[in-house]
Amino acid sequence: MDNFTYRNPTKLIFGKGRIAELSQEIAPGSKVLVAYGGGSIRQNGVYDQVLSALQGVELFEFGGIEANPDFDTLMKAVEIVRQQGVQFILSVGGGSVLDGVKFIAAAAHLEGDPWTILTGKAEIKSAIPIGSVLTLPGTGSEMNCFSVISRRSTNEKLAFGNPLVYPVFSILDPETTYSLPKRQIGNGVADAFVHVIEQYLTYPSDAPLQDRMAESVLLTLIEEGPKTLANPDDYTSRANIMWAATMALNGIISVGVPQDWATHGIGHELTALYGLDHARTLAVVLPSLLRQRKDVKQAKLVQFAERVWDFKTGSADEKIEAAIQKTEGFFLSLGIPVKLSAHQIGEEAAKRVVQNLSRRGEIALGEDGKITGPVVEKILIEAV
Ligand code: NZQ
Ligand code: ZN
Repeated sequence: MDNFTYRNPTKLIFGKGRIAELSQEIAPGSKVLVAYGGGSIRQNGVYDQVLSALQGVELFEFGGIEANPDFDTLMKAVEIVRQQGVQFILSVGGGSVLDGVKFIAAAAHLEGDPWTILTGKAEIKSAIPIGSVLTLPGTGSEMNCFSVISRRSTNEKLAFGNPLVYPVFSILDPETTYSLPKRQIGNGVADAFVHVIEQYLTYPSDAPLQDRMAESVLLTLIEEGPKTLANPDDYTSRANIMWAATMALNGIISVGVPQDWATHGIGHELTALYGLDHARTLAVVLPSLLRQRKDVKQAKLVQFAERVWDFKTGSADEKIEAAIQKTEGFFLSLGIPVKLSAHQIGEEAAKRVVQNLSRRGEIALGEDGKITGPVVEKILIEAV
């Protein structure tokens, strides 16, 4: 196991009826910007719950943050924050609103070009404190310091991470997820599943606790995801998915171990170029990537096959292929295609993705940096 430092400052407030506690978390009299998306919170009653809980503060609102939050939209909120002297930003919605809020919080204090936050060239010295009311489990954004921002005008989608944008608190009421369309439930479960895979399916690193924790998050998602889809009113499965998705990307399972993140790196380009939902990019890239990389990942793939999918007999190759097929079956059971052709995308995507990736320099993805341009091309051609 490698040396590590772990600190996660986000206070998690989990369970039914907890939105009512909002006012205890934000200093009375503060100027608060409530940020949200395209309107789901107005239809499912979450907006009303938030406003009635937020007494004694000076409120501003910013709606219309889109899925895959866009730089140009967010810059309008940055203006409001600067002009009004906003002191706290509350995200109400899914990962996109929250990622957008993280960016707004950092950009509002930055001198110079805010896009440099995404290119890694900005020095972020401070950020406005943020909190969240999460309505879509999946990204893990509620308890991490990452944010992924799209810039449609240039077909880019980039991530940044900074400890200053950890939410001060996140309220997770599983009942807010009852109104999710099936597509978003499936997306969230698949996204969380792939988050675990990115931190687990690399090579052995003498970290049995991290392995067991990762496997238990995977098994929970495999067991609870289909339950929610079959019984949308089942509070227990909603709650378990929400907690599992948080645990998948709050940093705890990745301490001291190697990480991959190539599926995400390639997936972000597919969203930037073709507008696919984040999780849908992952479901087409991951199986193909695992097949391409089965030799370097062999030991962990066999472990994954044995412990997660219960394949205990056969050769290593047979176990690995069986586990990849089970993973594909799992995505399909969530209503998510595993081939690019299902999205009407063909082999031309391979070159376009590589071209986009190489705008940022040499391509060296994966836990060993060996996923170069030609490997990315192969992964995508096989994913058609
Ligand atoms: O905009 P509204 O009207 O709120 O509707 C949203 C949106 O259309 C809707 N929705 C959310 N909660 C709902 C609901 N509809 C009904 N009832 C509810 N309770 O769902 C749609 C999708 O929402 P979005 O926030 O885009 O989804 P998600 O949470 O999956 O976030 C995706 C974004 O997060 C990034 C992705 O790249 C993508 O941009 N990620 C962020 C990460 C992080 N910060 O750590 C890591 C991830 O790997 C991921 O990259
Ligand atoms: Zn993801």
